[in-house]
Amino acid sequence: MRLIKKLSGILTVFSIFTSLSACTANPINNSYSVKEIKIGVTLYKQDDAFISTITKNIEDIAKEKESNSKYKITIDVVDAKGSSSNQSNQVDKFVSQNYDIICVNLVDRTAASMIIDKAKLANIPIVFFNREPVEEDMQRWNKLYYVGAQAEQSGEMQANIIVNAYKKDISSIDKNGDGKIQYVMIEGEPGHQDSSIRTEYCIKTITQNGIELEKLADDTANWQSAQASTKMTQWIKEFGDKIEVVFSNNDDMALGAINAINNANIIGNKPLVVGIDGIPKALEAVKNGSMIGTIINDSKAQAKAIFDISYTLATHGNMNSIEGLEKGKYIRTSHTEVTSDNVDLYLENK
Ligand code: BGC
Ligand code: CA
Repeated sequence: MRLIKKLSGILTVFSIFTSLSACTANPINNSYSVKEIKIGVTLYKQDDAFISTITKNIEDIAKEKESNSKYKITIDVVDAKGSSSNQSNQVDKFVSQNYDIICVNLVDRTAASMIIDKAKLANIPIVFFNREPVEEDMQRWNKLYYVGAQAEQSGEMQANIIVNAYKKDISSIDKNGDGKIQYVMIEGEPGHQDSSIRTEYCIKTITQNGIELEKLADDTANWQSAQASTKMTQWIKEFGDKIEVVFSNNDDMALGAINAINNANIIGNKPLVVGIDGIPKALEAVKNGSMIGTIINDSKAQAKAIFDISYTLATHGNMNSIEGLEKGKYIRTSHTEVTSDNVDLYLENK
């Protein structure tokens, strides 16, 4: 009996000691003192070529920051697969798990209000990106931010590439010598701000430069390469070698058009194709001459802006330190023109 009492006494002392040591510093990783920042990211479609580039950049920037920050940074990326109801459920989950910030690449940019109301109720700021909510929604709360690009500029620069080529050597573009450029326009998703603005500013800039245009066809391929390839195949059947220029609202669709051009039997010069985004495959196409140029939509700067806003809010930092923040909530990055003249520069750091 006495032996049992003694043994149980020793055990009690031992367990008090072990539980005490668990409360104090863990010498291996010091985990007791590290605060975690949780950033939830919901994407309209993860397989979108440009969106996947931004996402990867956000993850890389977060990893780098974590290595010299006192915070553990968790970036949780989920795919809404083109469904608003999936996206709404994903936001619910981030809210219920107390995420610090929610980054939203909206499925439907005209329907942000439900998501905003949920986040506002839970006091979790939102950083929208790439698919801009309407102004009225952006006014609903003072903890809403938007990161995107200067869409007008991308349309103007795309036009410049064609204007410069035309001025340098008209015959390289105006194959039938009628003094006009016969073109087709492949548009992104209807209702996406970058689609309509790029199309408008591209056409406007060409005509402002005194060059006459003749539209052969204009249609959406929803940002997708395969749809653009199908569309372009139809247009080649319809217009044959009449097509002199293919304007595309993004690179992925431009690459689809190039695929259709390569599979068709076009007599004489192939049409010139110009895209937007500067994704790696497009830079390679500019390098090998199948694309006359592209416009870099700065996914690194956008990812940095998305991350900086999120991190600063989560750590209660000074928002004035964020570069380029306009009206306290918008960041719109600028673009760069890329042709065979300067593509090597960008191929090196892609
Ligand atoms: C990009 C497209 C992309 C779209 C997705 C645009 O800004 O240029 O490549 O598909 O955003 O929302
Ligand atoms: Ca012509």
